[in-house]
Amino acid sequence: MAEPIRVVVTGAAGQIAYSLLYMIARGEVFGKEQPLVLHLLDIPPMMGVLEGVVMELADCALPLLRQVIPTADPAVAFKDVAAAFLVGAMPRKEGMERKDLLSANVKIFKAQGQAIDQHARKDIKVLVVGNPANTNALVCSHYAPSIPRENFTAMTRLDQNRATAQIAAKLGVPISAVKNVVIWGNHSSTQFPDPSNGIVEINGSTKRVWDAVNDAAFLQGNFVETVQKRGAAVIAARKMSSAMSAAKAACDHMHDWWHGTTSGQFVSMGVLSDGSYGAPKDVVFSFPVEISNGKWKIVQGLQLDDFAKSKLAVTGKELEEEKGEAMAVCSAD
Ligand code: NAD
Ligand code: LMR
Repeated sequence: MAEPIRVVVTGAAGQIAYSLLYMIARGEVFGKEQPLVLHLLDIPPMMGVLEGVVMELADCALPLLRQVIPTADPAVAFKDVAAAFLVGAMPRKEGMERKDLLSANVKIFKAQGQAIDQHARKDIKVLVVGNPANTNALVCSHYAPSIPRENFTAMTRLDQNRATAQIAAKLGVPISAVKNVVIWGNHSSTQFPDPSNGIVEINGSTKRVWDAVNDAAFLQGNFVETVQKRGAAVIAARKMSSAMSAAKAACDHMHDWWHGTTSGQFVSMGVLSDGSYGAPKDVVFSFPVEISNGKWKIVQGLQLDDFAKSKLAVTGKELEEEKGEAMAVCSAD
């Protein structure tokens, strides 16, 4: 068996972590042959709750889990870690937008960026889940200048999974039949869920999602809005934000980053924008990416019509505004 790797989950006493830790510790992210040391970070008042989570992890009797280190000290949490799930942050309540969390949460990602810079492995892969995820990832990377900027990503995989599930339900096909429906921009209500490069297997043949659905009004209307507002719909129903589906998406994201994507398959990740497709540069923008050898690459050459271009412009503008606000909060801190 391989040597254990160290993986940190922040917000480890919270809702998402409660599902996520089990999936990671079972080997669903890094593989069934990869032993793990889990570092669990939360804030001091949550140490009692975290102790309960540690007991439960022990009681799961998971063969890959070699050690669990609960802590409230970022220096301990980030020491020598190879992968980080940055979940710990305040969730929104009914009636809020995710960017309303910015002033409270962005400082967490400044401090964790600094701790990653000082203590983590230089090849660490960082996934930011805590909202507003794109801008938090940008801030985290800014405060960790010794780590390559492409090692910081934000989660839009939940949005992609939601979009894929909507298309599969509409066509009455299994989820695995639908591929390459992707998310552009911010993990917010301005995101653009884009089915135009999607493909679907129906009765043994491959079709464009656009042709199989054959309903432009749906694909540019109800479909887009449902995905954009799904997080709010879950909060309205559960009175708490999504957790099981968020944990699953975090696993999908890190799994594909670690192991690579299969040829011709695109996945959505918030990554540092190089200006591809007219997106603003130097914000963390969700693009379709392909991954090999642990490195993501923005898929090039996709066609965007005027509708798509207008949607990318709106979500790009929002990310630029969030960046300005976040940097102001951090420099005043
Ligand atoms: P939660 O309130 O249940 O748990 C958050 C945990 O983070 C708490 O235990 C809290 O004590 C801890 N925490 C707060 N500050 C911390 C810090 N500085 N260091 C370490 N831990 C800290 O919330 P949750 O439901 O688990 O959601 C966590 C975050 O994930 C929220 O911001 C939520 O909006 C976001 N989220 C993002 C997505 C996405 O798709 N990107 C999906 C779902 C939720
Ligand atoms: C989600 O998309 O479910 C999360 O970002 C939580 C939220 O605030 O919507």
